[in-house]
Amino acid sequence: MHQRKIPSSGEMLPVVGCGTWRTFDVGPEPAARAPLAEVLATLFAAGGSVIDSSPMYGAAEGVVGDLLAAAGTRDKAFIATKVWTSGRDNGVTQMQRSMALLRTDRIDLMQIHNLVDWRTHLPTLGAWKAERRIRYLGITHYTESAHAELEAVLRAERWDFVQLNYALDDRAVEQRLLPLAAERGIAVIVNQPFGGGGLLRRLLPRKLPDWAAEIGCTSWAQLLLKFVLANPAVTCAIPGTSNPRHMADNARAGLGAYPDAAMLKRMVAEIGV
Ligand SMILES: NC(=O)c1ccc[n+]([C@@H]2O[C@H](COP(=O)([O-])OP(=O)(O)OC[C@H]3O[C@@H](n4cnc5c(N)ncnc54)[C@H](OP(=O)(O)O)[C@@H]3O)[C@@H](O)[C@H]2O)c1
Repeated sequence: MHQRKIPSSGEMLPVVGCGTWRTFDVGPEPAARAPLAEVLATLFAAGGSVIDSSPMYGAAEGVVGDLLAAAGTRDKAFIATKVWTSGRDNGVTQMQRSMALLRTDRIDLMQIHNLVDWRTHLPTLGAWKAERRIRYLGITHYTESAHAELEAVLRAERWDFVQLNYALDDRAVEQRLLPLAAERGIAVIVNQPFGGGGLLRRLLPRKLPDWAAEIGCTSWAQLLLKFVLANPAVTCAIPGTSNPRHMADNARAGLGAYPDAAMLKRMVAEIGV
């Protein structure tokens, strides 16, 4: 799988990861967890590493932690999770809980979820980074309505990562946020590359265009992922899935060529809205 540089460190990160919102929020039943264990094994076998979670995602952090521990694959994972609460002490307590649930003493990337109380959490994240309890710090949002604030925050402080919404039918970040991230050396994680699933569901009944083969795409999922990965400011995309076959499909977008400017225009004209 292709890898891209994290600007603040030079470390390389595989371009396709796995989100866990809803998909990993399951109980202890082996029947519910077995496919998720396979999703993670498929991600790693394909050369991927990024797993994105949050205390907002129900049982997801604990499920990821249990599955990595059972498979002995913590060292293959780049664990990204979030702090999603107000107040310094609440933030510290929540991050400690996340570490316990994820069964690790170091989180690779700690993100402030949806900008919640970011001024309070940022100094804690800075201190935790200095103490090597987290390796990188970042901030996230998922709607265009928050982009102006996200832009101001990216300009005001130093961040290793930003996580934002970008998809073929949701391209607002192309105007200001992606150029700003590139300019300031901030790695970009793309959430909701399938429009939360809705965009992909709308496309699945349609025949894949013949030109998809020119960029090595054999599925709509790969085509949507290659669209966002074509932007050089993007470091990694994290489609969510609970299905190992879908994970294997998504990981294939990390191989081969990406659309050039002419192909991107065609994608927007024929598929984007
Ligand atoms: N504020 C934030 O920080 C924020 C907000 C939103 C999301 N996120 C993160 O971003 C991740 C991705 O966003 P998302 O999960 O909301 O939306 P998404 O990745 O755009 O779409 C996920 C949906 O697509 C389906 N899917 C995945 N791969 C597929 C494939 N190859 N073929 C067919 N269907 C496929 C999944 O169903 P199956 O399970 O059936 O595959 C799921 O319903 C989240 O899981 C979360 O980690 C963060």
